[in-house]
Amino acid sequence: MESNVRAHLSDAKATERVGAALARALSGGMVVTLTGDLGTGKTTLVRGMLRELGWEGPVKSPTYTLVEYYPLSSLYFYHFDFYRFADPEEWETAGLAELFRRDSACIVEWPERVANLLPLPDLSIVLTHAGDGRDMSAASHSADGDRCLDAIGRL
Ligand SMILES: Nc1ncnc2c1ncn2[C@@H]1O[C@H](COP(=O)(O)OP(=O)(O)OP(=O)(O)O)[C@@H](O)[C@H]1O
Ligand SMILES: [Mg+2]
Repeated sequence: MESNVRAHLSDAKATERVGAALARALSGGMVVTLTGDLGTGKTTLVRGMLRELGWEGPVKSPTYTLVEYYPLSSLYFYHFDFYRFADPEEWETAGLAELFRRDSACIVEWPERVANLLPLPDLSIVLTHAGDGRDMSAASHSADGDRCLDAIGRL
């Protein structure tokens, strides 16, 4: 079932459009990982998702807080950034494990920092610097992930 979509994203708007397409197919229980060096557009993609889902407020990078919660009407939306995650015990003590539920969508920057704690993702996206733009590779690992991958592939 594993399949893959690749694209060149020439500017930040293109990254937001990927997020918007993905958001249209997003459902509760999904885990989406965003992997890529500093500044490759992970938070930009999340902003595109949130705008599509009707969130008009600021979209902050949860680098210091680890997680930002967005109270959308359609689903519970958690945006994680594990760049500064250092203490594995925090996974339990900070209650992070409990946020991965059937009715919540969890979008995760820097998943490699919590590799052995994180549930398996439905969709994994890798962003890399490519000239002035970015290259994106998205892979699906479940039926839910397939739906998102189709939505991205139709762009
Ligand atoms: N496809 C693109 N082409 C060019 N610039 C882009 C593209 N996508 C996003 N950017 C820009 O890259 C910069 C960094 O974006 P962003 O903060 O989303 O990166 P990030 O991967 O979340 O970084 P960090 O690892 O620090 O959290 C922003 O100025 C954003 O507008
Ligand atoms: Mg970020």
